[in-house]
Amino acid sequence: MDGAKIPAHIGIIMDGNGRWAQSRGKDRSYGHREGTANVERITERAFTRGVKTLSLFAFSSENWARPKAEIDELMRLLETYFKKFLKKLQRENIRITVMGDISAFTVKLQKIIEKSVDSTKTNDGGVLNIGINYGARQEIAYAVNKILEKGEKVTVENISANLYTAEFGEPDLIIRTGGELRLSNFMLYQGAYSELYFTDVLWPDFDETELDKAIEEYGHRHRRFGKIEQQ
Ligand code: FPP
Repeated sequence: MDGAKIPAHIGIIMDGNGRWAQSRGKDRSYGHREGTANVERITERAFTRGVKTLSLFAFSSENWARPKAEIDELMRLLETYFKKFLKKLQRENIRITVMGDISAFTVKLQKIIEKSVDSTKTNDGGVLNIGINYGARQEIAYAVNKILEKGEKVTVENISANLYTAEFGEPDLIIRTGGELRLSNFMLYQGAYSELYFTDVLWPDFDETELDKAIEEYGHRHRRFGKIEQQ
């Protein structure tokens, strides 16, 4: 992969935890636990490869419709994740940010998240941006409301500047694991010109080699941003 074009910003829709667990005769929560362990592996690989920002879709605004036991397990995993990996990410100089409305979480979880964000805010070795209680349509509405509150004009640039990701820009590459061919309300505004990579591999099986494959494929794409390619 030496010399390959590396996407500065990758977004990942981490799908397939439930099916991965069920195919092993286990409950869906087991899949989410394995999925969380995989977040650690993939984060490490992405930053080692030179990715600057990694945006992960961990919990969507629509996931609240899942059974309570599954939501409770996802909340517990988020809590453990932010607590357990904070030190490691701190050592690796990674900044943690979140996109989404965290006010819907327990005060305890909000505090844990805020501590992770706050204590890593000056790190400049990479950004791990986690989408929790996140939905792209809600994000666009949130950005437009912020603009209106400031009495500013709604423009394409101003919407971009008021999204959660204003600082990190648009993903060059969006990966979706788990075989579905859709974006499911993930980074719809920022993803207008992102390269898309879909794989049948379920998230817990999407290992370092799979990430390398996606990056490699990105290296062969020709991005035109709506323009005619220069000869
Ligand atoms: C989709 O699998 C995955 C989710 C809804 C949650 C993703 C969460 C994690 C990977 C763990 C928490 C993340 C962090 C950053 C700590 P699914 O349940 O929809 O699987 P299925 O399509 O097979 O049913």
